[in-house]
Amino acid sequence: MRGFLIETYGAPTSHRLHDMAGLTPGPGEILIENHAIGLNYPDALMVQGKYQKRPEPPFRPGRDCAGVVLAVGEAITEFKPGDPVVAQVFTGAFSEQVLAPLSRVFHRPEAVSAVDAAGAITVFNTAYVAVSIRAGVKEGDRVVVTGAAGGVGLAAVQLARALGAQVLGIVSTEEKAQMVRDCGADALIVTEREEEPLKQVFKDKVRRHWGDDRGADVVIDTVGGAMFIAGLRCLGYEGRLVIVGFASGDIPSAKANYLLYNDLTVMGAPLDIHFDFALDRIRTGTDWWLGLLAEGRIKANVSEVLPFDRLMQGLQDILDRKVAGKLAVDVRA
Ligand SMILES: NC(=O)c1ccc[n+]([C@@H]2O[C@H](COP(=O)([O-])OP(=O)(O)OC[C@H]3O[C@@H](n4cnc5c(N)ncnc54)[C@H](OP(=O)(O)O)[C@@H]3O)[C@@H](O)[C@H]2O)c1
Repeated sequence: MRGFLIETYGAPTSHRLHDMAGLTPGPGEILIENHAIGLNYPDALMVQGKYQKRPEPPFRPGRDCAGVVLAVGEAITEFKPGDPVVAQVFTGAFSEQVLAPLSRVFHRPEAVSAVDAAGAITVFNTAYVAVSIRAGVKEGDRVVVTGAAGGVGLAAVQLARALGAQVLGIVSTEEKAQMVRDCGADALIVTEREEEPLKQVFKDKVRRHWGDDRGADVVIDTVGGAMFIAGLRCLGYEGRLVIVGFASGDIPSAKANYLLYNDLTVMGAPLDIHFDFALDRIRTGTDWWLGLLAEGRIKANVSEVLPFDRLMQGLQDILDRKVAGKLAVDVRA
């Protein structure tokens, strides 16, 4: 089989496809014939050795993939060869064959293509943890999503809408605003990046978006920095701000007195830890959003499908902020 191998950490385009030996599943593992790969920002960090976890080279990189089951290890009864699946692994998804632990593999409805499933798995599971498990969004809630046209942002917008919330996405351009509107939400173009002007925008425009002074119930923040500080300003009584990530590269701090006086809660939404401590909830969530995808009620927003040998260029394009929506790879092209 062919796959990418990280022999030494380096820029994405320094890594090449290699011929390698086929894989065999051990106990508790599933071997997947990989048809499609989803590309994420953390993949681009991982191949450079800049991700928070640094596997020792040589290793096979990649986290999101979809295809069919080739073989199952001892004691696995939940899957059988030929089942369509989608998986999120820690490493090894950028290969024609992928070994995944049982906990990381999900049944994929026939109506959901491998490309859409691989493009969706990390961003929709992250959005599910943020919107449903952590924020507990329900019908009628007012939800603000920052970085709303990003991968996790668009997923959060759609899942909050599917739960009956009124959603406002914060974006930087009209093109991104249209992507948010196409997902059934309102969009607000905000170009301010400095803390004070941003705070004012959130106090005035975001808070008053719904025509009264109640404010928002939830902010899902994927950007961090000044956007996080400003995000607190639009929340009303019992408001919750969910930290998803720091796309701005800036890790902010919240003043405890502001949280106290305004009756606010700030919480994190780490996806990975939920695989260890709340796998049942992740399985419920994945089945739910895969069902919505199968029914055409939400979109994976895959904007481009690359051939296998262009995968690393795709990671470079993500680093260069050239990508709108999600990038996926057709492993067999
Ligand atoms: N919690 C978890 O388990 C988890 C899982 C996956 C990802 N994440 C993190 O969540 C964050 C969002 O991920 P994503 O996949 O949605 O990223 P993405 O597709 O790159 O989107 C990020 C969005 O943030 C906005 N942004 C604002 N300032 C930015 C800046 N200085 N640099 C880059 N983007 C900026 C951009 O929108 P505008 O241009 O419209 O401002 C962009 O659309 C990342 O930090 C990622 O590491 C966390």
